[in-house]
Amino acid sequence: MALALSPTPSQVGPHVTPLSGTTGAVGPRVDRGARFGRRRPRTPVDLLVVAEHFARTADSWPGLADPVARCWRTIAATDRFEAWVVAWPVGGAVELHDHGASAGAVVVASGTLEETALRRRSGGGLVETSTPVPPGGHLVFGPGHVHDLVNHGPGPALSVHVYSPALSTMTYFARDDGLVAVRTEHYRDGLLVG
Ligand SMILES: [Fe+2]
Repeated sequence: MALALSPTPSQVGPHVTPLSGTTGAVGPRVDRGARFGRRRPRTPVDLLVVAEHFARTADSWPGLADPVARCWRTIAATDRFEAWVVAWPVGGAVELHDHGASAGAVVVASGTLEETALRRRSGGGLVETSTPVPPGGHLVFGPGHVHDLVNHGPGPALSVHVYSPALSTMTYFARDDGLVAVRTEHYRDGLLVG
């Protein structure tokens, strides 16, 4: 088992507009992921179990209520998975992206998100699927999954994202006849590093 992270301001993602009242606070029910250390979750189904576990206490993490921009904290990191809690204001969104070599599971803890997933059709072109994900709803995906997420409201949303292996890159795409990669972000311990 590698390290598990407690919620400190430095773990708030770089896209965050800093929020008041979050400095140094630790959520009242911190789970350090030890429960899952021996289970070694690897598949999307296992990651869903982890995500559902953390979703039950997602609202205990400080600094994520009433977000003014999409923001996140890394809430657990082991040698097998990494878990983030993400806060979404109304209108908060992340554009089309993949997750590098990571598989993942997302559980919506509160609010509703809409996922639009794009899949390359074997004969060319794209297949688009949009799905509302209500509180308690989830997504699971393997490497190569391309999607966007948006909170259409009416209120903020909170979601837990679990990745295995830990998220190291996200490539963003534009739509043309197909998907065109426009940039790649690199992450370490849940922080954007380049
Ligand atoms: Fe994603």
